[in-house]
Amino acid sequence: MKYPKEYLQEIKTRLKISTVVSKTVSLKKRGKEYVGLSPFKTEKTPSFTVNDEKEFYHCFSTAEHGNIFDFVMKTQNFKFGESVKYLANLAGMRPYTFSKEDQIREEKWSKYKLIYAKYVEFYHKDLFKNPVAKNAKDYLKNRGLTIDEVKKFKIGYVSNEENFKEDIFKEFSESEIKDTGLFYFDENKKKYVDRFRDRVIFPINNISGDPIALGGRILNDNKYLAKYINSPETPFFKKGSNLYNLDLTRKLSNTINNIYLVEGYMDVVGLSKNKVDNVVANLGTSLTTRQIFTLNQFFQHIIVCFDGDDSGYKAALRAAENSIIELKPEKEISFLFLPDNHDPDSFVNEKGKEFFEVFSKSNSVPIHKFLFNHYSKDLDKSPSSRAIFEKKLRLISSTIKDEFIKKYVLEYFLEKVSELTPNTNLKYKKNYLKPTRSLKSTQNYYNETKSLKAIDIKEFSFLYVLLKRPDLIRDNINLIENVKLFTSENKLLFEEIINQTNNFENYDFENLNVDMNLIDRVYKYASIKHILVKNLKDDQKILEILSELVRDLKNYELELRITDLESRFSKDLSEATFNELKELKKQQKIN
Ligand code: UTP
Ligand code: MN
Repeated sequence: MKYPKEYLQEIKTRLKISTVVSKTVSLKKRGKEYVGLSPFKTEKTPSFTVNDEKEFYHCFSTAEHGNIFDFVMKTQNFKFGESVKYLANLAGMRPYTFSKEDQIREEKWSKYKLIYAKYVEFYHKDLFKNPVAKNAKDYLKNRGLTIDEVKKFKIGYVSNEENFKEDIFKEFSESEIKDTGLFYFDENKKKYVDRFRDRVIFPINNISGDPIALGGRILNDNKYLAKYINSPETPFFKKGSNLYNLDLTRKLSNTINNIYLVEGYMDVVGLSKNKVDNVVANLGTSLTTRQIFTLNQFFQHIIVCFDGDDSGYKAALRAAENSIIELKPEKEISFLFLPDNHDPDSFVNEKGKEFFEVFSKSNSVPIHKFLFNHYSKDLDKSPSSRAIFEKKLRLISSTIKDEFIKKYVLEYFLEKVSELTPNTNLKYKKNYLKPTRSLKSTQNYYNETKSLKAIDIKEFSFLYVLLKRPDLIRDNINLIENVKLFTSENKLLFEEIINQTNNFENYDFENLNVDMNLIDRVYKYASIKHILVKNLKDDQKILEILSELVRDLKNYELELRITDLESRFSKDLSEATFNELKELKKQQKIN
């Protein structure tokens, strides 16, 4: 059984090969390609390359070479059919089952595309050559469009003439035509009517570039007619899954990291005229997570730039609440608000590309800040308002799928919220230094030392072992070398002990260049001493105890660094900080 070529092509179009490969191989960008360590052999220097434009991977050390399907087959040990299923699912496509229904659907699909292609082509040409299209041509000219944009976007005009319709009805069956939504049946006139008649039409293409729906605008604003209409949802067009202009912008994604998401067809066209080409529109519905998912496949940074009016703001808010769900560590979503009721089209036409891009850089707000700012607007001093506010923020962050982002967005929100409750914070901060995990064997001895922090006691115990068994330490210096202490007096003592390591043979406390009180404190408070006295001769046991202490101290240090980084990350949400954090957490797990 063979998969239809187009089904396979659609998978390839929807997925970047680098996105798929990077799920198993860590890739670095180098020029137009990505490089990484070959998954086909163990190697230290990368010889494996991935090229999104050419849609293949190549391994220079094993000469393995292929496309997205080959990669999945080879690395996951899949048969071809399994790799198609796996990738189709990743691309958000229906599985292909080779049933009779699938076959029928496939045939309908090719008719559907054919009808749309003919329709779009016909009315695009008609715009140029049909005299009745003059009004439409004037309209587009008045809106500042040139032939370039009209051609690039295959804009057309649907005149009232019937010739084309008659031809279509001769060539295709009624049900095939009905499926497209291009015509509807008028019960009064008892005939099919062109849904887009007397409108300028903007073809909406799927990601592979086939027109599958239309947006149509009236020429003169009119109370009784909707300014824009879209094709209805059809078996092959679902509004929430498509984006206007995705087919063209997708091709830019190898060189451009960010994508503007705007509301209107005319915004896309107007920006394109001003040489801003990385723009898609969401077809007048609210933004779906499906659309975010699709854009994330291709771009690192989505900048939502809706109209600078009330409804644009509301749409942006809804978009933020929907899309934060899909936020990923390596991706960004920002919001850009335009001044003075501008929409992107009018703004860039007035100010030009450069201004727009600079404005965008300095004014776009990361999604978590936008949401915070929005909800803090209604905030007053009443406990109930504040409680609702905190609950709302917690609710928003709880919807996020990615565990890391969820945690740090919540952390960002809570840090901001905690500024509203300074008194609670004070107490919170005091207790904040978490006690380290206590040694099982020593926890009984804590009572007498309640006034000291757990970390002090741990340090005393550590130093106690060093002081008691200098000989053992000298032979195991690597065990303690990288330990960091926090109490400044203890640090001093530790440094001094290390300095004296070489003299350990004639080791003598009196020679330590520190205040003897320090040593007294260690002797007094080291909880470990009660255990140690019983085992002073048991080297194995002492080393075990020491290792446990070292591990606890290192974990304590890690925890402090992590807390520190976490609060940094909640502010900058930067990838570098995140990676550093990830690394520390990994170490923490190993310890
Ligand atoms: P706008 O009214 O902002 O459209 O609606 P626009 O592109 O700025 O309009 P003009 O042509 O410059 O005046 C934004 C989008 O909302 C959808 C369309 O997709 C439109 O591009 N919309 C708008 C509708 O579906 N129906 C409508 O009646 C109006
Ligand atoms: Mn607009």
